Amino acid sequence: MSAIRHLVSIKDLTDDEFAALVNRAQYFKHIFKNNDTPEFQKNHLKLLGKTVALIFTKRSTRTRISSEGAATFFGAQPMFLGKDDIQLGVNESFYDTTRVVSSMVSCIFARVNKHEDIQNLCKHSSVPIINSLCDEYHPLQAICDMLTIKEKLDYENNKLKITWIGDANNVINDMAIAALKLGMDVSIATPNGIEMDPKIVAAANEITKKNGTSIEYTHDSKQASKGANVLVTDTFVSMGEEFAKEAKLKQFEGFQINKELADLADPNFKFMHCLPRHHEEVTDDVFYGEHSIVFDEAENRLYAAMAAIDIFVNNKGDFNAPPN
Ligand code: CP
Ligand code: NVA
Repeated sequence: MSAIRHLVSIKDLTDDEFAALVNRAQYFKHIFKNNDTPEFQKNHLKLLGKTVALIFTKRSTRTRISSEGAATFFGAQPMFLGKDDIQLGVNESFYDTTRVVSSMVSCIFARVNKHEDIQNLCKHSSVPIINSLCDEYHPLQAICDMLTIKEKLDYENNKLKITWIGDANNVINDMAIAALKLGMDVSIATPNGIEMDPKIVAAANEITKKNGTSIEYTHDSKQASKGANVLVTDTFVSMGEEFAKEAKLKQFEGFQINKELADLADPNFKFMHCLPRHHEEVTDDVFYGEHSIVFDEAENRLYAAMAAIDIFVNNKGDFNAPPN
């Protein structure tokens, strides 16, 4: 039996595998919106009578709705297992829970605190694990973000610069690798004292050497914003680090995306944010302004989840298998 493929982080995928996931998400967007086509009929209900588990120990709006929606599209019953719903963490270990849940479902979407918990799930699960956010990675967000950039700015035919102004967190860890893999240049501005994870820096270096893209790390948000085709940020205080909120907000002074930074970007720049959004990281005029694509981005989470189920579950990790 071949090893189960799990979706853990974008850096674990080859460039072609990652591009295949983004293309598959685009394919599902197309057929979902054209539901009278033979393609829709062939894909729809492929998992009828099956179940998909969502083990979530943190809150979620987009990831929960998109995963449940994607499971339902394929005919599977999604089961949301929040931290107050199951025995995990109170009466039962991760190991026992993983063995039991995976024996009854087609795949597990898991949103956890520590990356180590995702690794343990992968080790002991008999079905694919789809990392639905941990403290280090958020791969479903990266698939969706690249689909959104593809639609809005056509990265295949334009040389793009993606600029991140914010924390060195789970979202940029996967987004940076994703953008580099698809041929974009990346600039990351974090406050003094906040540096990117060396694992990401090493993975990014390998890609840039191979495909001629570039990545810049700076503490100067203005420098990073110059000529950016995409300006992107996220919360300054991720789930699980609320205890550090006051200190972090001080540290991020000067890192709010506002008109001053936006004026330095390319005149046709797009603003992105994975959501949920807080005022401290972006002003209303940018967040709701003409350059913002945040709600298209949020919708694309559904198609990223469909692509993940299709490749990892329906096609058992064969990225070359056709979608129907
Ligand atoms: N972007 C994202 O993952 O949102 P949720 O936390 O609402 O799932
Ligand atoms: N970095 C944020 C992303 C939320 C979708 C967090 O981990 O809370």
